[in-house]
Amino acid sequence: MTTVTLRRFIQAGCAAIAAFALVGCSKQASEPTASAAASAAPAAQVLTVGTDATYAPFEWQNEKGQIVGFDIDVVNAVAQKAGLQVKFVNTPWEGIFNALNQGDRDLLVSSITITGERKQTMDFTDPYFDANQLIAVPADSKVTRFDDLKTLKVGVQNGTTGDEAVSRLQGKNSANIKRFESTPLALKELEAGGVDAVVADNGVVINYMANNAGSKFKTVSDTAFAPEHYGIAVRKGNTALLAQLNKGLAGIKADGTYDRIHTQYFGSAASPGGASPQAASAAK
Ligand code: ARG
Repeated sequence: MTTVTLRRFIQAGCAAIAAFALVGCSKQASEPTASAAASAAPAAQVLTVGTDATYAPFEWQNEKGQIVGFDIDVVNAVAQKAGLQVKFVNTPWEGIFNALNQGDRDLLVSSITITGERKQTMDFTDPYFDANQLIAVPADSKVTRFDDLKTLKVGVQNGTTGDEAVSRLQGKNSANIKRFESTPLALKELEAGGVDAVVADNGVVINYMANNAGSKFKTVSDTAFAPEHYGIAVRKGNTALLAQLNKGLAGIKADGTYDRIHTQYFGSAASPGGASPQAASAAK
């Protein structure tokens, strides 16, 4: 190495060290500020809400990647009433209940049907929406009732109440049950002819058809499907949060906020007997 290059080498090294020191400095500088702020006013706890945002009009991601939908508006309104702070985190349906139970999420809103089995492992608020299973088939299908699906290839979202219904009809291990990660994926497969029917929540099926004119489906309803009610889920035994959420929910039902949100998404206020998502097309 010549003297010149050696000097350059040392200079370069100094520059690197200086840069490193700067980073160290700015980091050190920011730390006392942060801790000072924290000790001055402890930040209000922000509750993490898990939602599988593939479920328009209830929860989906808009073009900007924001999580939006009926459930989101309801929980935001409930939180505001109850004085809670919330943030929504997209959480695949497959792991959503584990995420709650392991403490990665504080509550779930994801068009979750309150069922006896689920109540064993988590707690639910009062119902905030009524739903039922609906069959989607190609427009020229001969299917007229749920029983007709006994020997057909049926698409469902894995682990949903639609999956449970078809599992009861065909047997859990039936090779004719095609389980998908999301309901839109099951409906896409119906469009492609890979399955003969899809069984899923009525609101989502109706919304999909309204927004995919090319899908050429018709729906078949059947009273064999038990009425379902959506609830917000919290960890089992989290009675404090449950009470706050129920209070907030009662509040937005009483002051007209719930009806306003319902009208925005479904074109009418909730009927006394429950919400009917017939006009789900309004949501996109
Ligand atoms: N209501 C059905 C159930 O609870 C389906 C819910 C699916 N929700 C979702 N965001 N993917 O099983």
